[in-house]
Amino acid sequence: MVHVLSDDDTGPVLRDLIDAALTYKRAPNRAAGLLAGKRVALLFEQPSTRTRVSLEAAIDAMGGHAVVLRGDELQLGRGETIEDTARVLSRYVHAVALRTGAHERLERFAAAATVPVINALTERFHPCQALADIVTVAERKKSLDGVVLAYLGDGNNIAHSLMLSGAYAGLRVRVACPPGRDPDPGVVARARRAAASSGGAIEVGHDPRACAAGADVLYTDVWVSMGREGRDERPEDVFGPYRLGPERVADAAPDAIVMHCLPAHRGEEVAAEVIDGPRSVVWDQAGNRLFAQMALLSWLLVR
Ligand code: CP
Ligand code: NVA
Repeated sequence: MVHVLSDDDTGPVLRDLIDAALTYKRAPNRAAGLLAGKRVALLFEQPSTRTRVSLEAAIDAMGGHAVVLRGDELQLGRGETIEDTARVLSRYVHAVALRTGAHERLERFAAAATVPVINALTERFHPCQALADIVTVAERKKSLDGVVLAYLGDGNNIAHSLMLSGAYAGLRVRVACPPGRDPDPGVVARARRAAASSGGAIEVGHDPRACAAGADVLYTDVWVSMGREGRDERPEDVFGPYRLGPERVADAAPDAIVMHCLPAHRGEEVAAEVIDGPRSVVWDQAGNRLFAQMALLSWLLVR
């Protein structure tokens, strides 16, 4: 059973997925009908705007049917196990996308499921986002090889997925996080292994200026991820030096683009003049979520 739990699952076929996403963007009719007769459950235990709606829209555009579910409206809320939920949903639908907090919960769901499972975000990985991000970089830069992507901020799910998917794509991914908020060393090691065969590179440090220097892509994410609310007493003290402001744009390459997975908090992790400025590609980036989901669904369900 093929699942997409982390970027290691999409990495080996990343170039094909990028090509497919860009094909569907140019010619959406190529995707029409590909999911005819297929049902996909979208189970969200946390809020979502982009992931949920882009999946639902992709399934609709491909002629399939999406069953959108919130965790608290299932018997999960009354103590049914995640494994039993996976076994049962597998009898009704052809794939399940799950957004949940603990990555281990997603792994337990996938282990019990008998249909493909897509990670719609856990606290460790967000592979659907990273796929759309690499599609966006591919669209904007002539070649992915050696493109320097600088990520500033929390060493979170987005940092992990960018390191892994970036490594598979041949990017040079630089990450600068506050001390104590570094990415998981195990994920860094996995990304370095992927980079070794793609010609990419992974650099992890604490200096935001060095990270941004000469970069082709500047990327940041929220200070407070879902499930971490209230954990940092003063997020500004921890993350303030890593804000993506005009100084970091000045440090980067003259044609650098600015990316953010969204939702954004202007004045916190990103300055309003940067995210709303001429270098920002965040709306195209969010739009590309749709075509990335189409590529992923067609790889998983149309074989
Ligand atoms: N970027 C992203 O995954 O957004 P949502 O939380 O709105 O899905
Ligand atoms: N790191 C953020 C990403 C949201 C898309 C979170 O987990 O909340």
